[in-house]
Amino acid sequence: MYILGIETSCDESAAAVYNTEKGVLSSELYSQIELQKEFGGVIPELASRSHLDKIDLMVKKALESAKISLQDLNAIAVTTRPGLPGSLLIGLNFAKSLAYSLNIPLIGVNHLDGHAFSSFLENNVPFPHICLTASGGHTNIYLMEDFGKYKILGQTADDAAGECMDKVAKFMGYPYPGGPIIERLAREEGFVDHYKFPRGKNQKDLKFSFSGLKTAVLYKLAEQEAFDLKTKQFTKSGDEDLKRKVASSLLVCVKDIFIKKLQTALELHPQVKSVSFVGGVACNKYLKEQLGNFCKENGVEFFAPTPKFCTDNAAMIAYVGHYKAQHKQFDDLTLDIF
Ligand code: KG4
Ligand code: ZN
Repeated sequence: MYILGIETSCDESAAAVYNTEKGVLSSELYSQIELQKEFGGVIPELASRSHLDKIDLMVKKALESAKISLQDLNAIAVTTRPGLPGSLLIGLNFAKSLAYSLNIPLIGVNHLDGHAFSSFLENNVPFPHICLTASGGHTNIYLMEDFGKYKILGQTADDAAGECMDKVAKFMGYPYPGGPIIERLAREEGFVDHYKFPRGKNQKDLKFSFSGLKTAVLYKLAEQEAFDLKTKQFTKSGDEDLKRKVASSLLVCVKDIFIKKLQTALELHPQVKSVSFVGGVACNKYLKEQLGNFCKENGVEFFAPTPKFCTDNAAMIAYVGHYKAQHKQFDDLTLDIF
């Protein structure tokens, strides 16, 4: 079976082909990062127009790289939620038209299900499994008993982990995405925890909150007279030492929060055999290494996808679509984004 995956939930137009026997055959992507850079965030209308411009090209490239033609496809899987409505509609309508013209089934896929199963693309992951998803928009922890049988144990009440790093980097004058910059600065500082930022009040539940951490960093910068709270200006852009210390303390704090939550999840679910760390933040080598060590010490297998499958991609959508196709979980042309 050949499944085409289409992903347009935010600022990446992506297409991929997944095959039952051979796994991922292609994964193509156009990132709007350069296009959106000058606006300091994702402008929804710009995102939709760019998807409209690029999605057919990405599908063509995905088919070419997979060395198959449209006629070889057995079904089309597409992200239907969550995401920017205008962007989702471009991908969904493209997928509907293609499925209709080829007379093959259409499969709606939740973007977060895609992330949750992204480590399965390259590994044989044993169940029961715990997945920690951390991206710019989400921080979720799941208990996964099997394909199609999983539940969210906890999620963030406010900002996502990646968003927190993006915002702190922005305070210090860096462009989006801030996560890789925070990692570089923290590495230069040797991952020393200078400021002991708050790890959260109730560490024994599985809810995340990163808004307080972001505020704590902001107040630390203000206390050091590096940030003017009134004008919202970073005033010590030349102080590399301060920037490294802030980034290092922040990353160590995020690491501690993640490990504490994983520890709680494993205590609550001792039957768990494996853990995965996925989403854009899982590109972070330090976090991956630290979480991996923690799992090893606790006797559970640890998985994290290669970076191209951590950030948004269509291979993870095609993978979930493939599972759904095997179970005949198809959608009709009334499929909507909500
Ligand atoms: O999954 P993703 O590509 O898009 C969303 O769905 O949000 O994740 C993007 C997020 C951004 O917040 C970015 O700063 C973060 O992933 N990120 C990182 C690293 N690389 C990307 N965070 C920490 N360390 C990194 N190396
Ligand atoms: Zn995502």
